[in-house]
Amino acid sequence: MDKIIQIKKWAKDECAANGLGWFWDVHLLEVEKCAKTILIKLPKADKEIVMLGVWLHDLQRIRKIDGNHCKIGAVEAEKVMQKFGYLPEKIEIVKEIILAHSCENDLAPKTLEGKILATADAMSHILSDYYLAIAATGKRDAKSFKKWVMKKIDRDYRKKIFFPFAKKLIAERYVALRKLFKTNHGN
Ligand SMILES: [Fe+2]
Ligand SMILES: [Fe+2]
Repeated sequence: MDKIIQIKKWAKDECAANGLGWFWDVHLLEVEKCAKTILIKLPKADKEIVMLGVWLHDLQRIRKIDGNHCKIGAVEAEKVMQKFGYLPEKIEIVKEIILAHSCENDLAPKTLEGKILATADAMSHILSDYYLAIAATGKRDAKSFKKWVMKKIDRDYRKKIFFPFAKKLIAERYVALRKLFKTNHGN
């Protein structure tokens, strides 16, 4: 498992090199926390696969490559895993969970590890300051941000959380975020 520690360090450096230190702090470290919480409840899951997914699932975003978030993320993850000497079978398993982590276009994770990654990703969005950090980048005005974020938090809550205990853990904050981001006056 010490290769995982090296990959974690690699992911931190990759975020920093791309000017995304905030993404490391507000997202990847939070996904790690959530994944570990889930793994305690589901000890039969392959921890190494889950943690590889945690560190490598958002490489499309981190490397700012245009195109499909999950497909490009899987290709970039493959390159990194090859560099770290992982066997092709393991690389395929990790690519598959990255491909399905957004739960979009009817592509849902099939394996336990894939479900844990998608759940941890969604939980972290709701439990951390992730969406506030995105708002603070100022790329959208308040009105379009609210519209965008409501869809995201709903998808997080409804489509990406595969375990009832995880849904319970985030339910209160999900409701609070919906109240916060609800468009005023029906606009
Ligand atoms: Fe992602
Ligand atoms: Fe993510």
